[in-house]
Amino acid sequence: MKHHELPGHISEKLHAIAERGEKIRILFVCLGNICRSPAAEGIMRDIVDSRGDSQNWKIDSAGTGRYHIGDLPDRRMRVHARQRGLELDHRCRQVTQDDFNDFDLIIGMDASNITNLRQIAPSPEAEKKIVAMADFFTPGSRYDYVPDPYYEGSEGFELVLDLLEDACRNLYDSAS
Ligand code: 4NP
Repeated sequence: MKHHELPGHISEKLHAIAERGEKIRILFVCLGNICRSPAAEGIMRDIVDSRGDSQNWKIDSAGTGRYHIGDLPDRRMRVHARQRGLELDHRCRQVTQDDFNDFDLIIGMDASNITNLRQIAPSPEAEKKIVAMADFFTPGSRYDYVPDPYYEGSEGFELVLDLLEDACRNLYDSAS
């Protein structure tokens, strides 16, 4: 059993942005930007839309790798997301140094994403924007990262969507 707790400063930071009347700007990051992070983007956008709160959020995703730039999300992820009522139409792009100015939180899916993001961060201040998606998992989750589904079967994609739904709900609640 993994015990993850949302670091208090993240929730404080999100509240402070909302209190200033500014958009909360979040970027989800994985390796390929065709499975996990575009799914996180779609789920988060759906939550924010369903609460009538889309004008207060800026949500995007990117990859540390450059294998799939310009591509739609992986067909398997689109099929599994569609079964949950989500259409994923993000076009793959690579994360940039500018993203560290354009977003408040840069959310990596696993430890390797976070190591890569630390190398891209343009300053120590920018590096503080990097957090793990697992920081938003409900305490007691069996996982402490979002596993790469690329070489997995259907269960891998369903697991990723379950983990992301849980984390995105908690992320939304931590800001409100
Ligand atoms: P993602 O999954 O990081 O969740 O988008 C992957 C997609 C593609 C590759 C690796 C992971 N790839 O090596 O092409």
